[in-house]
Amino acid sequence: MTYHAQTRTYRLDPHQPDPEILRIAADVLRRGGLVAFPTETVYGLGANAFDADAVARIFAAKGRPSNDPIIVHIHALAQLEQIAVAVPPLAQSLADTFWPGPLTFVLRRGERIPPNVSAGRATVAVRMPSGSVARALLQTVELPVAAPSANTFSRPSATTAAHVLHDLNGHVDVVLDGGPTTIGLESTVLDLTGAVPTILRPGGVTIEALREIVPDLQIRQSFLASDEQAGASPGMLIKHYAPRATMLVFDGERMAVLAAMRSRAEALIAAGQRVGLLIFDEDRQAFAGLAVELQVLGAVENAERIGAGLFAGLRALDAAGAQAILARAPGRIGLGAAIYDRLLRAAEGRITHVS
Ligand code: TXA
Ligand code: MG
Repeated sequence: MTYHAQTRTYRLDPHQPDPEILRIAADVLRRGGLVAFPTETVYGLGANAFDADAVARIFAAKGRPSNDPIIVHIHALAQLEQIAVAVPPLAQSLADTFWPGPLTFVLRRGERIPPNVSAGRATVAVRMPSGSVARALLQTVELPVAAPSANTFSRPSATTAAHVLHDLNGHVDVVLDGGPTTIGLESTVLDLTGAVPTILRPGGVTIEALREIVPDLQIRQSFLASDEQAGASPGMLIKHYAPRATMLVFDGERMAVLAAMRSRAEALIAAGQRVGLLIFDEDRQAFAGLAVELQVLGAVENAERIGAGLFAGLRALDAAGAQAILARAPGRIGLGAAIYDRLLRAAEGRITHVS
């Protein structure tokens, strides 16, 4: 089953979104249609979170399995009581610090939220995005908006309207083009329904920043998770964010990693493969003279820039026809944890530890 629509795209100035265009988009949402819009993290594919039929269209448009729950987006704290029940005080204090922003809470689901939003679970994920177009849209429609990332299932998330159209043209009613998203990595998902607050997905709010408020924070080792553990957040499948090319991630001491990547690239080229490399500024020299497609993400210590360009880099290598993509893993502190997580899933767990 899929969802078909005549897709209309509107360009918006993110600093001053045109209220007329926002009204058009809000109207589509109220009538049960789908609107793709930029948040500070990635583009979302939105529907009225109170409307089970509209939410079903999201799953149909993305080809998303129905066991993968969706995040509900709000613009004001007062909306929380329409969505969740038994909200713990910790959610309030975390919201004071991190909302609006790239942090999602998993809470107990309120009865106005239809079960398909949460894939039948008793919980619901909620976040208040800070992106200006997202906020303006949410204020205009005055409804909570359920929105997964606006990509086809298992592909890299969309950080531009062009990415959204590449994946979903003809399957979404309106695309709001507010330019590239700034963070480029999805929100951090924090489960507050258990005994101990647990990160289900690292993202735009760092683990270090969360630990300052939640010292006993736990992190689910999700990419190595058994199926049973993966059930806690079924979006955390091994294959996710994946390019069409076969992806291989190399981790370890820099010089050893670069040597291993170069010899793997040479072997693949010799075997007739088109090779793409996802690397950092300072690594260019190591691949001089090789016939490869390069995506240089920025200086290795600049995690903000790497995060912002990661999905676009994967998509660009796909578009260039790469059959294999080799990537160097960054360090795992700060935003590096989210970058590492996305690379590993894109590689379906294929990581080479070089020593
Ligand atoms: O930054 C973001 O979070 C973006 C923008 C659009 O807001 N959205 C996003 O949605 O990344 P999506 O659907 O691609 O990823 C949502 C993640 C999935 O891993 C899903 O399993 C998890 O959140 N999730 C959603 N509801 C959940 C729930 N009730 N319990 C556990 N995990 C949940
Ligand atoms: Mg997604």
